[in-house]
Amino acid sequence: MMPWEEWVEQLRRDRTLLPDRLALLVETDDAELETLLANAARSVARLHFGNGVYVRGLIEVSNYCRNGCYYCGIRSANRGLQRYRLNKVQILECCRIGYSLGFRTFVLQGGEDPLQTDDFVEEVVSAIHTIWPDCAITLSLGEKSRESYERFFRAGASRYLLRHETYDSAHYRSLHPPGMSRDNRLRCLDDLKSIGYQTGTGIMVGSPGQTVNHLVDDLLFIQRFRPQMIGIGPFLPHHATPFAHEPAGNLRQTLRLLSILRLMHPLALIPSTTALATLSPEGRTRGILAGANVVMPNLSPSSLRSNYALYDDKACLGAESAEGIAQLQSQLESIGYRIDWGRGDFGDV
Ligand code: 5AD
Repeated sequence: MMPWEEWVEQLRRDRTLLPDRLALLVETDDAELETLLANAARSVARLHFGNGVYVRGLIEVSNYCRNGCYYCGIRSANRGLQRYRLNKVQILECCRIGYSLGFRTFVLQGGEDPLQTDDFVEEVVSAIHTIWPDCAITLSLGEKSRESYERFFRAGASRYLLRHETYDSAHYRSLHPPGMSRDNRLRCLDDLKSIGYQTGTGIMVGSPGQTVNHLVDDLLFIQRFRPQMIGIGPFLPHHATPFAHEPAGNLRQTLRLLSILRLMHPLALIPSTTALATLSPEGRTRGILAGANVVMPNLSPSSLRSNYALYDDKACLGAESAEGIAQLQSQLESIGYRIDWGRGDFGDV
């Protein structure tokens, strides 16, 4: 018998654990351990957030990307994809619809599209900020210069999501094309944080070549970095990528990691991600029951949604969509939760 109960309690109390113990929690597929982790994580989340789950309206602003990340379906080499780029009017229309549905955070996410210039992003952020000053604007537009991040911040963006994907440099290189590096990713994250963004980072669980030690290093990096937001989801293959035939990440391991992250970061904003909902029909609710406290329904124009294909069969309907908000509401109610329409700024809890 492993002393699971003691370790989970220690993790809850100290918000950390020795690396070799973390490794065992990450790798052990044990139902009793999972129940202990999820129960502890859920009770910590409930202590700080009650039964509220924050919603963020996700607007996928462009699926053009200059990069060639080996896991990602919108990589530049994928010629089999209908590319689109939203203009300012279209993005503002998404916000208008989202605002009327009740959303008070908009997440502008996109590939690294060279034609969505800094001037464009600045102008759009500034317009959203002026029209809906009560809304938080989150950007997720990849790696930029510090100057670019500063401009967007001054224009009114206050949050930025940029997963580090993996802390291990060699593993990072095995997932990304030459020219991209773990170090530049970390430089971006440091810039974002020091500029004053509420910053989000995170990983894919089960990306090709990932080991338990990598995951422990990821947990320890996240602990040092202290992001306000932490996004994790399973790796899912996309047919037009070099990783087309790699296996998907493991649901239960993803849930264990969610719970561990909640215990290490009681106040963090942790989404139950689309990838989790895509991997399993119960993914979204199980994420919340494992300690997540955010969901990000899709506000992109529905006719373009299927083109933002980071991986195959990406969920974008039903509770995953802004139109499906009633469905999300009832799904949450079925597990004793409800939508919290607040901005949910870090510390503002
Ligand atoms: N499977 C799961 N997640 C993916 N992402 C990109 N491609 C995939 C994939 N094939 C994630 C990355 C990125 C985020 C926007 O989506 O972690 O940071």
